[in-house]
Amino acid sequence: MQPHYGFAGFMGKRVHLGVTGSIAAFKVIDLVRALQRADCMVSATLTEAARQFVTPLSFQALGASPVYTDMFAENPDADTAFGHLEPGQAADVMVIAPASANIIAKLAMGLADDMLSCQALAFPGPKIVAPAMNPRMWAAPATRRNWDTLEALGYVRVDPECGSVACGDTGAGRLAPVDDIFLACLKALAPQDLAGKKVLVTLGPTREPWDAVRFWSNPSSGTMGACVAMAAYLRGADVTVVAGSTGLSFPCDMAVVSVTTARQMYAACTDLWPNMDMGCLTAAVADYRPVPFGETKFKKGTSAGAGITVEFETNPDILKTLGETKRDGQKLIGFAAETGNPREEAARKLANKHLDLIAANDIAKTGSGFGVTTNEMFVLDAKGRREQWPQLPKTEVAWRLWDHLLLD
Ligand code: CTP
Repeated sequence: MQPHYGFAGFMGKRVHLGVTGSIAAFKVIDLVRALQRADCMVSATLTEAARQFVTPLSFQALGASPVYTDMFAENPDADTAFGHLEPGQAADVMVIAPASANIIAKLAMGLADDMLSCQALAFPGPKIVAPAMNPRMWAAPATRRNWDTLEALGYVRVDPECGSVACGDTGAGRLAPVDDIFLACLKALAPQDLAGKKVLVTLGPTREPWDAVRFWSNPSSGTMGACVAMAAYLRGADVTVVAGSTGLSFPCDMAVVSVTTARQMYAACTDLWPNMDMGCLTAAVADYRPVPFGETKFKKGTSAGAGITVEFETNPDILKTLGETKRDGQKLIGFAAETGNPREEAARKLANKHLDLIAANDIAKTGSGFGVTTNEMFVLDAKGRREQWPQLPKTEVAWRLWDHLLLD
């Protein structure tokens, strides 16, 4: 799992997992693990067809509890008289993955003829469905109609992806990546306190080209910004990411504008900013760009002396520009990666760039800054509130930043 998807802290939340008959059933073992790493409790129901592919023991061994099977079993622990109602009372989210054509039809019709379909009908909370089936079954008019019905009934639908399936056919029908199903669960569990907000996040390094093959840049991986973007996304915001060169990927319903240079990032951000409610600019923007040598490759030995001299021009300050053009109600967060005096620098940049909140770190400290999944931040806001946070996973830093911005 990518580090910016690894949110935790969902203590006390329970996800009930319904597994139906598909070769993809083994993949949801990874979903159980991911949910547990996020501190969720997991319970499960395996239909009769699911048990042809995976066993209840696989889920029990991982700590899923209870694990339901038959409605009318002799006397297994989980299959109590009211097992068909229990997840509806105890779980916060229900996710059916993989969902066969059969269960989708039953959910659409409200049929309740086995443990899982009864539990789904009696479940009042958010329900997520992630199908997996043969592409011809997925494309069948009856399945299309049932799938539309699930949307009308309020189900969160995680579409299957295209690819080759077990029987050798190719097309849409493969179970969506477990990461996507995991994110749908977290989103259903997270407070939606940024719902309706448009949020701009910059992340990653910029690259400033010098000749045909060389550029000036820095080692930013973009992880901190990606965590900020994902935290806002999980809390319901409509997020647009402006990303420098990183290998990171994001959910397909998040807008991502890819840029290379600081000037491209500046153009994208100044264009987007008037329509945004909030901005968090984490990108490691190059303050200067080399005056280009040219379109071709510089060849060694072609300069007059032993070395070469590269001249630099100043890049625009994106954060400062957005701060200066902030309208009433817009909120702006900046970052400051420092090698000395993070507190003083934070105060200076907060005022100078017209920010509502700034998060500063000392990149010389172990576990804080580039290339690690943790950060140790000093946070200062325009109301004078200041906090020193301990070393925390970047996901948690991101979550706390939005909490802090929403304080009033
Ligand atoms: N930033 C920006 N555009 C720039 C430079 C920085 O948007 N051209 C943003 C960064 O994304 C970060 C904040 O400004 O949110 C602070 O960046 P930093 O590099 O720490 O500070 P600088 O403003 O470059 O100042 P200094 O060189 O004095 O540290």
